[in-house]
Amino acid sequence: MFRLALTAALLAVAYSFPAISKATCAYPNNTDTAINFFNCAPDAIQVQTVTVTDDSGASNYPIDLKKPINLNLKSYDSGADYVADLVNVKLYEFTSGWLDSTCSWHGIPTFGMLDGINGCTFADNCPLNHGDLNLDIKLDLTKYAPILALLAGDKAYEIEVHMLDNNPGSSKEEIACVVTQLRFIK
Ligand SMILES: *[C@@H]1O[C@H](CO)[C@@H](O)[C@H](O)[C@H]1NC(C)=O
Repeated sequence: MFRLALTAALLAVAYSFPAISKATCAYPNNTDTAINFFNCAPDAIQVQTVTVTDDSGASNYPIDLKKPINLNLKSYDSGADYVADLVNVKLYEFTSGWLDSTCSWHGIPTFGMLDGINGCTFADNCPLNHGDLNLDIKLDLTKYAPILALLAGDKAYEIEVHMLDNNPGSSKEEIACVVTQLRFIK
């Protein structure tokens, strides 16, 4: 608990530091109205569709963090059956720089909180077997409240997910890389 509070404090300091007012950036890739995603490597698992709904099945976009977030990923696994995987996540926001009014993706520090996540536990969808995958993931972000607290929700965000094979004896090679660009409301 103390560690979490400390992390949250560090995040708050690090993240609020560039408090200089910056130019407003438009939502890239039409993320104001729809989620955008792409596979970022020719890895074994390729994601084909991404949809976000609430519990009634209606679209939850822009993603309302106060509503249930049900993610559906249709994918294809051309590799092995994976009984264990590790997930590393990088976060970016679409803003201009301090000295540069051009809008681009800037990394948000997460202090290791989003590294080495047990993907099977998080998504509750293992094994990931060779062939078509239709993954329903109920997102529970309560653990990540310290990070979410820092995101203003007034711009586009990018979530870069790297999934590594964690099968017994594996060399932890990357099996999926997906970039999702989105907008959310708190
Ligand atoms: C928009 O999306 C495409 C792929 O869908 C990507 O290659 C491009 O980098 C994205 N643009 C921005 C500003 O992120």
